[in-house]
Amino acid sequence: MCGIVAYVGNKPCQQLLLEGLKRLEYRGYDSAGIAVLEKGKLRVCKSIGRVQNLEDKLEENGGLSGNLGMAHTRWATHGGVTDINAHPHIDDKVGIALIHNGIIENYASLKTYLEEKGHTFKSQTDTEVLAMLIGELYEGDLERAVQAALREVTGAYSIAVICEKEPNVLVVARKGSPLIVGIGNGEYFVASDASAIVSHTATAFTLDDYNVVKITPEGFHTSTIHNVPVTPRIEQLEIELQEIELGGYQHFMRKEIYEQPKALRNCLRGRIDVKEGRVILGGLAGLAKELTKLRRVVLTAQGTALHAAMIGEYLLEDLAKLPAVAEYASEFRYRNPIIEDGTAVIAVSQSGETADTLAALREAKERGALSLGVVNAVGSSIPRETDAGVYLRVGPEIGVASTKAFVGQVCVLTLITLFLGRRRFMSTEHCSELLKALDSLPEKIEQVLTQDEAIRKVTEKYCDRENWLFLGRGYNYPTALEGALKLKEISYIHAEGMPAAEMKHGPIALISEGMPAVFIANRGRQYDKVMSNIQEVRARGGHVIAVATEGDHEIKRYAEDVLYVPDIAEPLSPMLTVVPLQLMAYHAAVIRGHDVDKPRNLAKSVTVE
Ligand code: F6R
Repeated sequence: MCGIVAYVGNKPCQQLLLEGLKRLEYRGYDSAGIAVLEKGKLRVCKSIGRVQNLEDKLEENGGLSGNLGMAHTRWATHGGVTDINAHPHIDDKVGIALIHNGIIENYASLKTYLEEKGHTFKSQTDTEVLAMLIGELYEGDLERAVQAALREVTGAYSIAVICEKEPNVLVVARKGSPLIVGIGNGEYFVASDASAIVSHTATAFTLDDYNVVKITPEGFHTSTIHNVPVTPRIEQLEIELQEIELGGYQHFMRKEIYEQPKALRNCLRGRIDVKEGRVILGGLAGLAKELTKLRRVVLTAQGTALHAAMIGEYLLEDLAKLPAVAEYASEFRYRNPIIEDGTAVIAVSQSGETADTLAALREAKERGALSLGVVNAVGSSIPRETDAGVYLRVGPEIGVASTKAFVGQVCVLTLITLFLGRRRFMSTEHCSELLKALDSLPEKIEQVLTQDEAIRKVTEKYCDRENWLFLGRGYNYPTALEGALKLKEISYIHAEGMPAAEMKHGPIALISEGMPAVFIANRGRQYDKVMSNIQEVRARGGHVIAVATEGDHEIKRYAEDVLYVPDIAEPLSPMLTVVPLQLMAYHAAVIRGHDVDKPRNLAKSVTVE
């Protein structure tokens, strides 16, 4: 969603800020803006559309010079996509500029108050209200004015503020929306996402909620909104620059699909002992007692992460014999959920910042659940709020359509299942056997990737069709949902995923001559049933594309096209069967001429409800 970059130091900052914005483009946005203090005067430029439009506009106007500034990418919430609604927003009376990620929930009452005080608003945004409020409360100290304003605010925010009256000062603050301060040599870099600053420094600290930081080239001061001093924890960022660069690939999505074998190797490293049938999860080590007492698991997430959570539900019940349920976080949090003794909630999230998932986690904690996180982004909000958790370790995911995080999530949920299973009913031998299979997965994904061109050809045959079905059973029902979601989000083709048996209960009416129906039809407990469902589609003129197990020649009699994956134990199969579906979605988007990494209307991290 929105992105923040800010700089204070000794360098001209315009280019540096624009480069930072470009690193945040993947998060999704619809306008961009920049403010620089140039010889003590605020200079602002904004533009709808891409960061490139902003860059062109700056060039036409001679650019901005100055060593203190900030820039923003906006994903519209309050007010349409216009130059005026783009950030920064200005308080003219004092000369304050502000950029903001999040939502000020009580902006309407604050606006009325400020209008009564004589302020007039140019935009329809909640952010302009905050800029004016800081201006209204300014009494010669920007840090104090920001603290005072934030004490009046409800909602979520990360902000950066500069002021003409204090030309060396940058003030930033956070509640519920991430913000990081990178420390250089006599210079500081602020961003809502580490990827915008790693090319400058690896030394950084993350703000906690309600923290305010006043930064000058000479140093910084961290406090709470109540002006209580805070000592931040300075850390070294683990992101490598190459992880956030295209490195020869045309799109991040494709790069990340291809990174999946490596991502899984990293995810598994040091965590499995195949011979002993043991899973070692440092993140859960301190909870041995609570975990043995577990009676029920609620997995909660949104989107792709929910599909991984659904596979987790199957894994936990099937292998660890633990009652489990996967739920949309957005539904779970509002439906008065019952949390009995011995319940653990697992929040599954790539970003660790998804607003609904975070809120569901808080709700479950409040009701007494043990809280666990399965998260990729280290140090993000979810792992900061859970009792314990396991990181995916798949590296930063830049592509908006989640791919390697999905296999990482399923892999970690498998590890957690085996970890718990061994403490319950699972034998060493059974665990050993599954760990061996898990260990072979990266290589098997590599084999699927070698069929990329064949997958592209099959996709090409059908990608002019506007309606697709994705069908699977058991462990691969969530895979079908994931295949449909991938196709929808980047190629804008209407696709529905469902359990193959559900088709007969209504959706079968949709099947018409030539409609593509993708069946996940690998060998497993329900193989014969899937074959029957395939025939039902064929009988009505649908074109079947089957994802099948290598060596299954029989299936060619029923499916127009077959994409093969290597054989693997059924509970692990979604991590293989999803790969052809990811590639199909990718090729469909490219063939249809869409910008795969910047799909319309989508944001990488959904930090609003
Ligand atoms: C789809 C996709 C989204 C996310 C969802 C949750 O490709 O990326 O559906 O999975 O927004 O995001 P995280 O995992 O960051 O909580």
